Amino acid sequence: MTASAIDIVSLDSTGLERHLDRLAEILRACVHAGASVNFILPFETPQAREFWLTRTAPGLAAGTRILLIATIDNEIAGTVQLDLATPPNQRHRAEVAKLLVHPDYRRCGIARALMCRVEAFASDRQRSLLTLDTASDAAESLYAELGYERAGIIPGYARGPLDDRLETTVIMFKRLAT
Ligand SMILES: CC(C)(COP(=O)(O)OP(=O)(O)OC[C@H]1O[C@@H](n2cnc3c(N)ncnc32)[C@H](O)[C@@H]1OP(=O)(O)O)[C@@H](O)C(=O)NCCC(=O)NCCS
Repeated sequence: MTASAIDIVSLDSTGLERHLDRLAEILRACVHAGASVNFILPFETPQAREFWLTRTAPGLAAGTRILLIATIDNEIAGTVQLDLATPPNQRHRAEVAKLLVHPDYRRCGIARALMCRVEAFASDRQRSLLTLDTASDAAESLYAELGYERAGIIPGYARGPLDDRLETTVIMFKRLAT
């Protein structure tokens, strides 16, 4: 897969509703494949739809959240969000969240492309510091490759999605030129 075959666009709340079924399927499939992204099994389509409608759509409507989707051959393969709703003393910061690539489309450069684009959106909005957390070794490798630094770890931060084990979360950050 070449980066040029990956089409990335931002969605507003109307776009989110239009693509709700596919976004819910991506979230559901990622959780079932072991992604630690706030949810635990059982986690099915209704809960996934609820996440997009109650945790993502309001921020899009308020202009405090950016939602990007990556499409390949007319199929949405991945997504990422940028949360701009930081406190008044952190208006230079934004939080990267819910970087999700459907298991059928991994290792094609989709996450890398999404992260590069989300950084461009952050710079456009004068956000010079990006922060994120991850419990995934794969994601940490990607973030490190893109220049994110490890701020630290919190052992036993969250329960894994598939079993009762508590997992370590890694906090990372990157400074951007704005
Ligand atoms: C982590 C995730 C987003 C990566 O998506 P992806 O589209 O497969 O990643 P990319 O193809 O863009 O990979 C870019 C680079 O990241 C690193 N990387 C990605 N997946 C990796 C893996 N499983 N193991 C090791 N390194 C990995 C590699 O350096 C890779 O470059 P390479 O393929 O040239 O070696 C995807 O596995 C995913 O959705 N996981 C579940 C959700 C999740 O954990 N999200 C992060 C939460 S913050």
